[in-house]
Amino acid sequence: MDNLIKKTSASRLSWLSATLMAVMLSQQAFASEPEKTMTKNMAGHSVHDEAAWWKEAVVYQVYPRSFNDTNGDGVGDLNGITEKLDYLKTLGVNVIWLSPHFDSPNVDNGYDIRDYHKVMKEFGTMADFDRLMVEVKKRNMRLIIDLVVNHTSDEHQWFVESRKSKDNLYRDFYIWRDGRNGKAPNNYPSFFGGSAWKQDPQTGQYYLHYFASKQPDLNWENPKVRQAVYDIMRFWLDKGVSGFRMDVIPFISKQPGLPDLPAAALARPEYVFANGPHIHQYLQEMNHEVLSHYDTMTVGEAFGVTPEQAKKFTDPQRHELNMLFNFDLVRMDRDGWRKTDWTLPQLKATYAKIDKGSGENGWNTSFLSNHDNPRAVSHFGDDSPRWREASARALATMMLTQRATPFIYQGDELGMTNYPFKRVEDFEDVEIRGQWQDLVVSGKVPAQEYLQNVRQTSRDNARTPMQWNSEANGGFTTGKPWLAVNPDYVQINAAAQQQEPGSVYNYYRRLIALRSQTPPLIYGKFKDIDPANEKVFAYTRTLGEQRYLVVINFSEQPLKYSLPQGIVINALVLDSGGGHGAEEGATQLDLQPWQASIYRL
Ligand code: NOJ
Ligand code: CA
Repeated sequence: MDNLIKKTSASRLSWLSATLMAVMLSQQAFASEPEKTMTKNMAGHSVHDEAAWWKEAVVYQVYPRSFNDTNGDGVGDLNGITEKLDYLKTLGVNVIWLSPHFDSPNVDNGYDIRDYHKVMKEFGTMADFDRLMVEVKKRNMRLIIDLVVNHTSDEHQWFVESRKSKDNLYRDFYIWRDGRNGKAPNNYPSFFGGSAWKQDPQTGQYYLHYFASKQPDLNWENPKVRQAVYDIMRFWLDKGVSGFRMDVIPFISKQPGLPDLPAAALARPEYVFANGPHIHQYLQEMNHEVLSHYDTMTVGEAFGVTPEQAKKFTDPQRHELNMLFNFDLVRMDRDGWRKTDWTLPQLKATYAKIDKGSGENGWNTSFLSNHDNPRAVSHFGDDSPRWREASARALATMMLTQRATPFIYQGDELGMTNYPFKRVEDFEDVEIRGQWQDLVVSGKVPAQEYLQNVRQTSRDNARTPMQWNSEANGGFTTGKPWLAVNPDYVQINAAAQQQEPGSVYNYYRRLIALRSQTPPLIYGKFKDIDPANEKVFAYTRTLGEQRYLVVINFSEQPLKYSLPQGIVINALVLDSGGGHGAEEGATQLDLQPWQASIYRL
């Protein structure tokens, strides 16, 4: 502990001067906006933009717990990732995002960190991490890690100290308040059910936790907290990681005085939590102190940030983050845990809005799933045996041809599906457990209604183990998997798909290769050419003289599709059905159900 205290207070002075520098630098940056130049991209092509490796990257998210278990304890591990690097290399991805691998009591599967300098023992050792790093680099790939610093675990040494007394040196590392009339200090709800405040018996005060009560929020107003985070970042960057996915990063700046949420904001508190007054100051400071000294890629998980607000985070002139995860698309058919409907024009409008935001002011991400959302094919496609593969290929085409860095969630390259949950006991997730208590046990929502919705919306859908082959447990483990393997592993698994030329996996490979070699599909301007069409998503990607057309049939019927005026086919580049596509000069297309094609115009 002594060391911890010395380290943080000694850095106070350097923090002050760094902050002053950061302010001066950001003023300078705003004074004159350099014009966009032609630069060479990674493959040596000229592009009308600022080229960057992280714009050209295709990222693959590994949720380590569910990826590959090498020691039979039922939990995936770092050695399991190292073992599968050749699989990822063959797929064509070049950056891996690793969900948290740090020491954790695992209340929220590692998003509750006890020690940022240690590897979670279930996942292996620091030596395993170092070996993974070496093997990643050997293959010319990069690794980015999860930076979870809105909160820690309550078992983190800082919180263990903080809760001891009101005058503990670490008290101000967290957010403590007196109660109000014997209750919580304000009406903030926790995302995992109940109040976002918990009273601690040692001092009688309450601490803030936006997530589980075992995930207390850090107090970013305290410069020592910020310096401690920067030290953690340097530690991992010095180990060779190439950047960070930053967990709920806009939430780090809290609302001054922590007033009650207005009633209208209670159901969507993220829009208040994400808009604290100091967020941009903190990110600029972080950039100046740490990120600007390394060649990094940064992606902020921006729950509660609108595409309009996103520009401020990603505008390169502001020196904050490279890109954000915007949730308007993956949550467009959600009302909290409830599933609602969506339409294709709504999806298209959302893409257009996201592209208009950071697409014009920085850079975007493209993703259809992650460890917090249902499986892409079950969500936006059709996971029935008849259409699963065709719709997974169609979605892959859409996901990988946006003006954004694509993030593939593990297993989506196989078209893995949602899990057939039956009872509440089938779920592991802390979110489901909390909501069950809060909503069902309390009698507010009937059990069947709740289950029927979360069967489609639950995070556990994406967290079931990777399906490697048709052996027991899909080849994920020789032991008992921590979460049941989806029984469809017999039909849907990597080994089978690697053999089969027309598989979802092999289509992903072709698509990734095409994207990597085609600058307009990375940097080109995006234009939806038929926004109101309820069945077909058709858009162009234009870079200088080069123009590409992507056409996707989102229906289960064959369709004749007349191209809008002025759009004439030159050549087919890739087709999801292995079909021939339209001939040169065609202005009308015959689309098969869920067919997706990429044409040069
Ligand atoms: C977002 C993460 O993706 C999610 O899994 C986690 O529960 C919360 N942040 C809290 O860290
Ligand atoms: Ca293991």
